[in-house]
Amino acid sequence: MADKDGLKVAKDYHTEIPFGNNSAFYVKGANNLDWGMKKHLANIFDPKSGNTVMFAFDHGYFMGSTAGLERLDLVIPKLMPSIDCLMGTRGALRTCVPPENRKAIALRVSSGSSMLNDDLSHEVVAVDVADAIRMNADCMAVQTFIGADGQLSSIDNLSQVINAGFKYSIPTLGVVAVGKEMARTSRFFKLATRIIAEMGVQLVKTYYFEDPDDPNGFEEVVAACPVPIVVAGGKKLPEKDALAMAYKSIQGGARGLDMGRNIFQSPHSVEMAQAIRRIVHEGYTDKEAYEFYQNAIHA
Ligand code: R5P
Repeated sequence: MADKDGLKVAKDYHTEIPFGNNSAFYVKGANNLDWGMKKHLANIFDPKSGNTVMFAFDHGYFMGSTAGLERLDLVIPKLMPSIDCLMGTRGALRTCVPPENRKAIALRVSSGSSMLNDDLSHEVVAVDVADAIRMNADCMAVQTFIGADGQLSSIDNLSQVINAGFKYSIPTLGVVAVGKEMARTSRFFKLATRIIAEMGVQLVKTYYFEDPDDPNGFEEVVAACPVPIVVAGGKKLPEKDALAMAYKSIQGGARGLDMGRNIFQSPHSVEMAQAIRRIVHEGYTDKEAYEFYQNAIHA
């Protein structure tokens, strides 16, 4: 307890200065959220750039052991310096990610299918919000299958998680899954991202796309989505192409990348993550980032 003797008299009230903490919050659509939600979002989105580099390693939840992720305990720590937010299952996080890391956590909370199924769209909420709180998750990620056989149950899953998230001030990340029967058109992404946002999520993960019938489609998806969009990496591309996709995503208004295979399946995953970081936070073009990547791997 503070010593009561010899106390200094409080006198620096600065009565001429208006209250200092009145500025708008920088994350899209989050201005009216409470402090706890904002704190989690600030852990995910860098306050300076407003963007995030997320590293997705949750593949095992339906793919089992995945090429490049055989040893999570070895892969994750070496990539950590270039990552803002780690996206994984509670099994992977608890066993393979050192808790002393200072990174944001995107906790995968839906599951229920495997590569042995034809239709991956049937999931359940597999993680209780109490466990997300125990793990100090900054957001809970739910796969959402708009237009697929499992649409209804996935929206039910999403709603349950959003409701629990509001109760305990943990943001929900709605992930747009593209069912095997879905075309990657502007129409589909406009529909899916907006439905998910209107359900009440605080951030949306979707794919970058180019639709010849709608050249500004991606920018319009971003404009019509009232919360930040982070772009999924998708299947492994040559590094140059993956960096081009990352650049076009950020140019198109995405607030980050949530990449998995295009980082961990690269033969130079550390340098690839560093190159992505330069696009997301430092304004590099894809050409500059690729030059950085080439120099780094040949150094
Ligand atoms: C989304 O479907 C899941 O989170 C995936 O496990 C993850 O997004 C895949 O990442 P990537 O497509 O970049 O390998």
